[in-house]
Amino acid sequence: KRVAVVFGGRSVEHEVSVITGLQVIENMDRDKYHIIPIYINKKGKWFTGESLMEFKNFKENKLDDIQEVILTPITNDHNLYNHPENIGLFKKKIIDKIDVVFPTIHGTNGEDGTIQGLFELMNIPYVGSGVLASSVGMDKIIMKDVFKANNLPIVDYRWFYRKEWIENQERIINIIEESLDYPVFVKPANLGSSIGISKAKDKDGFIKAMEIATRYDRKIIVEKSVENPREINCAVMGYDDNVIASLCEEPLGWEEILTFEDKYINSNVKGTGKEGSRRIIPADIDDNIREKIEDIAKKSFISIDGRGNARIDFLLAKDGKIYVNEINTLPGSIAFYLWEGKGYSFKELIDNMIDIAIK
Ligand code: DAL
Ligand code: MG
Repeated sequence: KRVAVVFGGRSVEHEVSVITGLQVIENMDRDKYHIIPIYINKKGKWFTGESLMEFKNFKENKLDDIQEVILTPITNDHNLYNHPENIGLFKKKIIDKIDVVFPTIHGTNGEDGTIQGLFELMNIPYVGSGVLASSVGMDKIIMKDVFKANNLPIVDYRWFYRKEWIENQERIINIIEESLDYPVFVKPANLGSSIGISKAKDKDGFIKAMEIATRYDRKIIVEKSVENPREINCAVMGYDDNVIASLCEEPLGWEEILTFEDKYINSNVKGTGKEGSRRIIPADIDDNIREKIEDIAKKSFISIDGRGNARIDFLLAKDGKIYVNEINTLPGSIAFYLWEGKGYSFKELIDNMIDIAIK
């Protein structure tokens, strides 16, 4: 099978995606797969070429000299659908030469259904969730609306457009103070990796948090805070209603929310995810809690029509209540470290995901 692994991308999670992409490439069975690496830089230029795979210390600035550019957005509007000539070129150079695409781009334009839509239009199988699950999973507001409709446990939330905040801050502050009360978490609706998220303990903190979040997104979600929760994550794999759950992990951070640095720089994402890492696998939780988490993880995935492999992040409150925090339809490192203890090596996880894609 000829597999194109796509990584990088025009997202704030670009660097994380490079790690995930190179990890997937490194762990693919070379006897089974012919790998075509595709790197998308921060400006949205697409590159391919064998040497992309050898980049142990991936240096983007070296790319212009040695890599072939296969796709360049013609305007600042990076919506590829607007550029049929780009799609034609892409099809001739890449799509006609591959059997399946393995997207490993987190966040905007990679995990949100847009790149999935491109592959749909080209009629090429791709690994992971489709357009609907990806876009629902990317938007924290729509995601929570769907979870709520499916009676999955979530924290209470309100949401606003940036425009509403700019026009009448007092109105928004009143809504929050009357419905949720402080402390609250303020999050851009469409970003991953904890970017733009802050906790507000009072009105001043809330105004600051909204200023930060509105820099990143036109939609903001405000969630009631669960005090000192444990974070527990669980991955699931499958499609339709055939879904299995992985081990649970407890990621550890010094701060009240895991920062970008906690997740990717201090933690051992590159390694096995166990030794010396800042996560406990399996999480030290009671069996009945674990079973509930696994069950809710599967239901969350099924409720958005997920496919492939996803990581569902939970909050476990002091009183034992479990809340689904979010679903990541394209988790960092494809959450391989949660599957190892469940009997799937990284290689087998990749095989499984590719099998599901071409089913
Ligand atoms: N969005 C990052 C990659 C994660 O949740 O794993
Ligand atoms: Mg996330």
